[in-house]
Amino acid sequence: MAGIKAVAALSALTTLVAAHPGHSKRSIAVGKIISACTVKGQVALTFDDGPYQYTETILNDLDASGHKGTFFQNGLNYDSIYNYNSTVQRIYNGGHQVCSHTWDHADLATLTTAQIQSEMTQLEVAFANIIGVVPTYMRPPYLSTTPSVLTTLGAMGYSVIEVDIDTLDWEYDDTSPSTAEQNYQTGYEAGGSISLNHDPEPVTASTVLPWIINYLNGKGLKSVTVGECLGDPAANWYRAPNGAKASSSKPASASSTKPATSSTKPASSVSATVSKSASSVPASVSSKAASATASVKASSSSAATPTGKPSPDDTCGGTNGYVCQNSQCKFNHSILS
Ligand SMILES: *[C@@H]1O[C@H](CO)[C@@H](O)[C@H](O)[C@H]1NC(C)=O
Ligand SMILES: *[C@@H]1O[C@H](CO)[C@@H](O)[C@H](O)[C@H]1NC(C)=O
Ligand SMILES: [Zn+2]
Repeated sequence: MAGIKAVAALSALTTLVAAHPGHSKRSIAVGKIISACTVKGQVALTFDDGPYQYTETILNDLDASGHKGTFFQNGLNYDSIYNYNSTVQRIYNGGHQVCSHTWDHADLATLTTAQIQSEMTQLEVAFANIIGVVPTYMRPPYLSTTPSVLTTLGAMGYSVIEVDIDTLDWEYDDTSPSTAEQNYQTGYEAGGSISLNHDPEPVTASTVLPWIINYLNGKGLKSVTVGECLGDPAANWYRAPNGAKASSSKPASASSTKPATSSTKPASSVSATVSKSASSVPASVSSKAASATASVKASSSSAATPTGKPSPDDTCGGTNGYVCQNSQCKFNHSILS
């Protein structure tokens, strides 16, 4: 009898858990900003804004040296995620961690709850199609949140990961990668553990990351995923797609077109970089990326579809949908409706 009672209680609990995916089973907080590893002595290298053409080089660097990376990916930023299916699968299958960085690198603090949900669910559909699961970790673009953004993300079951070492690789990539390396060392020595890098930056793949790997190797340290350094079992890093169906239509394939200059500006550093000159968005990417998005929209009912390619370097103006507000570039979601 006791056994039957226990089973009944367990199945009631299971129902509860199923009704709130990502909540009850998680061992770490959702909807609260996490900026540091909690497992003593561990470090995590994180890469934002991909996938893009240098992501494979980053993976080669990591895999050859036995380090793990955590990738906060967009659906449509430098390119359509659907042009990098195999790269996303390689990250996932290689024991690195795949996380969300919103569909098109939106500043969530400027969006309505419905728009925030759309930014997340559009990318959930893409991940479901490509790797069959949905990440439970995300990083807000520009590290920009409000209490209500966090509430919305928490209700969707997301752990919100920020950073405590900012390499500023996007800023120093072309001019002095050693500055990004020094930023890593200074941050690490100050007790930092979760570092911010950008896989679409060519020099991050070729120079900055190899330097960081060498630096950590010298300390006998191997970077681990964010999930691992938070003590969260790997089974919790992803969840089932909740009925998101794989799209059967094939997105138009777009060949990668390298943006003129690439930089993604964390909110904290915007004031230092407003003088950076604007660059135009390659028009050739624009229409292809938009049509790739169309097939995603089909399986995500309330999802808005960008009408233009978000500027790869978040520059303002032109017809790319970016507008300037308070000296920051923001994607103007009103143009989507
Ligand atoms: C990527 O995956 C999607 C979803 O499975 C598929 O429709 C698309 O054809 C794939 N794209 C490429 C370039 O393989
Ligand atoms: C955003 O786009 C809408 C629709 O095109 C436009 O009316 C509005 O002025 C834009 N907002 C800014 C701040 O440019
Ligand atoms: Zn970003």
